[in-house]
Amino acid sequence: MRTEAAELVFDEATKVYPGREGAAVHELSLTVPAGEICVLVGPSGGGKTTALKLVNRLIPLTSGYIRIDGKAIGDYNITELRRSIGYVIQQVGLFPHYTVEGNIGVVPRLYGESRSWIKARSAELLDLVGLDPSYAKRFPAQLSGGERQRVGLARALAANPPLMLMDEPFGAIDPIVRTRLQDEFLRLQGELRKTVVFVTHDIDEAIKIGDRIAILREGGKLAQYDTPMQILDHPVDEFVADFVGRDRALKALALQKLGDLKLGEGVRDGLPRLPAETSLRDALSFLLAERQEAAVVTGENGKPLGVVTREDLLR
Ligand SMILES: Nc1ncnc2c1ncn2[C@@H]1O[C@H](COP(=O)(O)OP(=O)(O)O)[C@@H](O)[C@H]1O
Ligand SMILES: [Mg+2]
Repeated sequence: MRTEAAELVFDEATKVYPGREGAAVHELSLTVPAGEICVLVGPSGGGKTTALKLVNRLIPLTSGYIRIDGKAIGDYNITELRRSIGYVIQQVGLFPHYTVEGNIGVVPRLYGESRSWIKARSAELLDLVGLDPSYAKRFPAQLSGGERQRVGLARALAANPPLMLMDEPFGAIDPIVRTRLQDEFLRLQGELRKTVVFVTHDIDEAIKIGDRIAILREGGKLAQYDTPMQILDHPVDEFVADFVGRDRALKALALQKLGDLKLGEGVRDGLPRLPAETSLRDALSFLLAERQEAAVVTGENGKPLGVVTREDLLR
């Protein structure tokens, strides 16, 4: 397995729990390219957690295959497999009697890394997830929910795994901290470029985080696997359209920026100005609120780039 990022393939992966009628995950086939974030989203009981646990072999497949970098997970030595997969869960599962540093060092310690190596790695990871170095000596009970989640992420990254599985990592966090954690996670991913499977039941989180989104319906059946834009613009059926919500057109506007548009001519004084990074949704909202038909889009140092109209935004 490579160390930077691995390709993950589900190939008709199926899980039927013993004694249960239908499948929890039904013939799931999808490819997560190396270095991309795939978000698994769907209703509760849709098989999201099961799909993740199949990957690190916490539960066995009933049929089908899962391959990492072309090799079936069953053909990996289980220790090697788990070592190359970082796993982050909602309840974090930090050991209460270990310090933050002790928790981050759990996996490296298993593999015989030295105390000085772990100390240095722990400091590096705390910095990466945005915690002060002084946190190394704290215990989990002395942390807020958001901080615990950061430590959970640091711990999962400790062995520098090419693949990360994240099961509703920000699910139990209040909305403001949650938004910040999402932003920081995306920044981090910009640097680390891991392959990530990220589970959420929140479609807005999926749209924000995912390079691609896999929507699962009840019975663990894949309803659609596409980019956020494709899913918003072209939901394959009623289930997906319902799931993404009636405001899907507005959500699609939120994904694009003024700078992405072909701008018109006619820059003049008296028109309001909006920076090129403004989302189309915010721009439309602004024009409606200000009762304006058009605005000048500005780039670096406020340089006018062109004009956008309401019509352009609604197209
Ligand atoms: N250990 C288990 N034994 C039997 N059934 C299970 C087990 N774990 C989950 N299930 C069932 O499998 C289905 C999918 O569950 P899960 O993967 O946890 O869904 P999600 O994470 O999308 O909420 C549910 O119907 C759930 O009740
Ligand atoms: Mg779950």
